[in-house]
Amino acid sequence: MSRIVIRGGLVVTAAEEVHADVLVEGGRVAALASHDSDPARGWTASADRVIDATGKYVIPGGVDVHTHMELPFGGTHASDTFETGTRAAAWGGTTTIVDFAVQSVGESLRAGLDGWHAKADAQCAIDYGFHMILSDVNEDTLKEMDILVEEGVTSFKLFMAYPGVFYSDDGRILRAMQRGADNGGLIMMHAENGIAIDVLVEQALAAGRTDPRYHGEVRHALLEAEATHRAIRLAQVAGSPLYVVHVSAQQAVEQIALARDEGLNVFGETCPQYLFLSTDNLAEPDFEGAKYVCSTPLRPKEHQAVLWRALRTNDLQVVSTDHCPFCFVGQKELGRGDFSKIPNGLPGVENRMDLLHQAVVDGQISRRRWIEIACATPARMFGLYPRKGTIAPGADADIVIYDPGAEQVVSAATHHMNVDYSAYEGKRLRGKARTVMSRGTVVVDQDRYLGRAGHGRYQTRETCQYLV
Ligand code: URP
Ligand code: ZN
Ligand code: ZN
Ligand code: ZN
Repeated sequence: MSRIVIRGGLVVTAAEEVHADVLVEGGRVAALASHDSDPARGWTASADRVIDATGKYVIPGGVDVHTHMELPFGGTHASDTFETGTRAAAWGGTTTIVDFAVQSVGESLRAGLDGWHAKADAQCAIDYGFHMILSDVNEDTLKEMDILVEEGVTSFKLFMAYPGVFYSDDGRILRAMQRGADNGGLIMMHAENGIAIDVLVEQALAAGRTDPRYHGEVRHALLEAEATHRAIRLAQVAGSPLYVVHVSAQQAVEQIALARDEGLNVFGETCPQYLFLSTDNLAEPDFEGAKYVCSTPLRPKEHQAVLWRALRTNDLQVVSTDHCPFCFVGQKELGRGDFSKIPNGLPGVENRMDLLHQAVVDGQISRRRWIEIACATPARMFGLYPRKGTIAPGADADIVIYDPGAEQVVSAATHHMNVDYSAYEGKRLRGKARTVMSRGTVVVDQDRYLGRAGHGRYQTRETCQYLV
């Protein structure tokens, strides 16, 4: 059994910051002890490897609970495979993803889930789990939900958007929520009024408003807020908790905050694109705005401050990426002359930990809150804690040695995601993952990639560990 000591760093978890040495044995955290205390000196003497973390943070590997590797969308597929996407995640200090397996209309949940296992098996560089997208709620699939929860697929995404593809009406949503209330499955909601949006899309196109920026206009903030409100009240009636994904609008945050003030188990996630980008990007000329088309859409800059505040006050609990990359050439370009044909989604799985660290540098969030929203809470929300999301005896040794002083400039020329642009091109960030460990195996060391496809293990999950 290999023994690794990480020596001299500042261990930062959601709960505390301590100058401690960390002993890793057999892929798990065995113990923490004060730096250079008697026990720590003993470990160093007998270790197979000592990693010097002086001047660095020792943090849990990132847990990104919203990715879409290889997602079929709009006649094409997200450009990262499980192999390329998880490798890029590792480079960026993320050591667990939870991706969305898709049940297509007319298909069983089992068939959809099997399909996702087939894509991911033996491909992943880091550990991974699955949520299930429910596109077809019926008697059979409701029964299958129970089985999936038993097997460790404990969360289900429903869509109030995308009529004819993923969309569920309120009756189907209510039924899935009732089932979730019963079997412990957490309902995740894409909250946008897709029926109304489709009318506005048709009207915009008929009026010749075809540029990418109109994607943001037709997907109105009030239609996000309305759907968020409706999802909250349906969940309340069903007696089920609710997790609202990719929240971007101030008015939607207000609905979540109101529900939380009422004591409901309502949670919200936002993503780096909503915190750092805006409708200014969607309006970039020469069709460049297409690079920023995702749903929910980017909002005017004023919404960013509200999202940051909500992250501080815990009205929003999680930042995940919604990583769903499409190349500009050949994929985003499908929507030239018709914004509704631009495949929806942004790359970001490699950038999340660093962008959020920049927010620590800028004073938006504290260091511990960074780890809480990016590692600990996502792990608790989706039943992976304390195996993932913290550094404590017994936890998987998914550990990042993070250099808070490193400087980097984000660029598609140097990133590892399989996509031909960066949404954050040219952005200067302070901080970078230096050594990344997945279950005690070093997968990134300085500027070298040491991981391999197939190292990542499928994770069965407990039900939500975050309920009040
Ligand atoms: O634009 C996005 N978010 N694409 C991925 C699918 C989804 O709705 O999460
Ligand atoms: Zn396909
Ligand atoms: Zn969505
Ligand atoms: Zn998504």
